[in-house]
Amino acid sequence: MKPQVHVSKHPLLQHKLTLLRDSNTKHRQFREVVGEMAKLLCYEATIDLELTQHPVQTPMGQTTGHSLQSEIGLVPILRAGLGLVDGMLEMLPGSQVWHLGFYRDEKTLRPVAYYNKLPVQPTVQLCLILDPMLATGGSAIAAVDVLKNWGVERIKYVGLIGAPEGIEALSAKHPDVPIYLAQVDEKLNDIGFIVPGLGDAGDRQFGTA
Ligand code: PRP
Repeated sequence: MKPQVHVSKHPLLQHKLTLLRDSNTKHRQFREVVGEMAKLLCYEATIDLELTQHPVQTPMGQTTGHSLQSEIGLVPILRAGLGLVDGMLEMLPGSQVWHLGFYRDEKTLRPVAYYNKLPVQPTVQLCLILDPMLATGGSAIAAVDVLKNWGVERIKYVGLIGAPEGIEALSAKHPDVPIYLAQVDEKLNDIGFIVPGLGDAGDRQFGTA
């Protein structure tokens, strides 16, 4: 595995991912579990963030405190990335949320952009792209392209499951973007779905299967 690819071995993530894979899991529980996994993945994806030091007065005296240095942007890819936002925001409540809309053309599997309200100037130093499924990698690559054009200094991708094809494509096009996942699956099938995967993460979260 390439050094920029981080696949968590955390037992809670593996346990929860199994609940998502199970086709008997209904969308209410599916959404809850995606939210729980977002918090655990947030821990993994923020492990190397820089801190600034400053004095803090406790009831017992003065000590050195720490605060996150960078302004962080959470960038969910619509629709499925929405499910990861709330969990991330619980851990990073000061973050900005910038939505990007891409859907995959069913025939070509290429991402089609349909929503982007980024202002002209970047307002964050670090963006975490949120999308549960890294399949061909097309949507993730397009999202990184948009954020780099916006002028963001540092970008990370956070997802639940990656296909080897998508991981390869994203890390070849953007080797500077670390990828945080709960699992790497076997392959893509001939209609571009991750196998064994968990089905369509958007449909399963929102009950639109
Ligand atoms: C799915 C998924 C990713 C994308 C991954 O979204 O949530 O955004 O496909 O595929 P890729 O790596 O091949 O680009 P989809 O297009 O089904 O839209 P949805 O989230 O609205 O369901």
